[in-house]
Amino acid sequence: MRILGVETSFDDTGVAIYDSKLGLLVNEIRNQNQIHNKYGGVVPELAFREYIYQVAPLIKYVITTKNISLSSIDGIAYTAGPGLSGSLLVGAAISCSLAYACKLPVIPVNHMEGHLLSPMIGNSSIKFPFIGLLVSGKNTQLIHAYKIGHYKILGHTLDDAVGEVFDKIAQALHLGYPGGSALSKFAKKGRLGNFIFPKPMKYNLNFNFSFSGLKTFTLNLIHKNINNIQALHDIACEFEYTIFDILQHKAYQALKMTGYKRLVVSGGVSANLKFINLLKERLDFYNIKLYTPNINFCTDNAAMIAYVGMIYLQSGKLVQNTDIFIDPKWSIVNIKK
Ligand code: KG4
Repeated sequence: MRILGVETSFDDTGVAIYDSKLGLLVNEIRNQNQIHNKYGGVVPELAFREYIYQVAPLIKYVITTKNISLSSIDGIAYTAGPGLSGSLLVGAAISCSLAYACKLPVIPVNHMEGHLLSPMIGNSSIKFPFIGLLVSGKNTQLIHAYKIGHYKILGHTLDDAVGEVFDKIAQALHLGYPGGSALSKFAKKGRLGNFIFPKPMKYNLNFNFSFSGLKTFTLNLIHKNINNIQALHDIACEFEYTIFDILQHKAYQALKMTGYKRLVVSGGVSANLKFINLLKERLDFYNIKLYTPNINFCTDNAAMIAYVGMIYLQSGKLVQNTDIFIDPKWSIVNIKK
């Protein structure tokens, strides 16, 4: 079985083809960073417009340059939510039109389920149930994953997502957008212990997070120390460590509560090796296995959409006719089973 996956939830255009026997055949991504960089964040109106120029040519590129015949495709999976409505609509409209023309089934895929299952691409050893920690530019969620399509959100951020805070701090340090990776590099020259940071909600007796106060605290420190480059490195280093310490603590509490021995961490921030090493160190001690995506599948991509689409097409669930379905607020707990 071969699935064409289309990802257009926010500002990256992804097209991929996943083959149930051969694995991932192609995975292409085009970002819009140059367009949004000067605004320090994504401008929805510009994102929608750019998608219109990017999606169809990228599908054509993937099909033709990789010599994959459209007639070998068994279904088209697209991101139906959550995301920006205009962005989702472009991908959904193109996917459904192509499916109609080729008489193929379409599978609307939940973007968060895509992220959550992305570590399974090329790794068949990951089994349900597990605890999932989704840390991306728009979401921070701790998830109890029972089986495909069956999830419970144990906790989530009450304000900013982790990736979003990284981007805001990076912006204040003029490190570009999106700035998570650049900020982490900048933090490498910093030393821990020179500033004392608050750890909001770390010890609350629930699984929710709050990062907005920590963001403001960090921004204020940056402004006070703007002419002291070593202090700025130290602040970045302490900020990064504080966030990761809170995340690992809550993830471990969820594992302890459920007794599960598997943690899946995914989303853009899972590309951060310092975070993954910190987690690994702690989890190894408790004999808990940590699963993360291949570096190419941490941030938004279509491989995860094609992969999840394949699972649903194989099971016959979530498949629909070519009516266009999107839900910008589609929660992972509301996937039709
Ligand atoms: O998963 P993703 O593409 O976004 C959503 O689907 O929401 O993740 C993008 C986010 C950005 O905020 C980016 O700054 C962050 O992931 N990110 C990182 C790193 N690489 C990407 N944050 C921290 N450290 C990194 N190495």
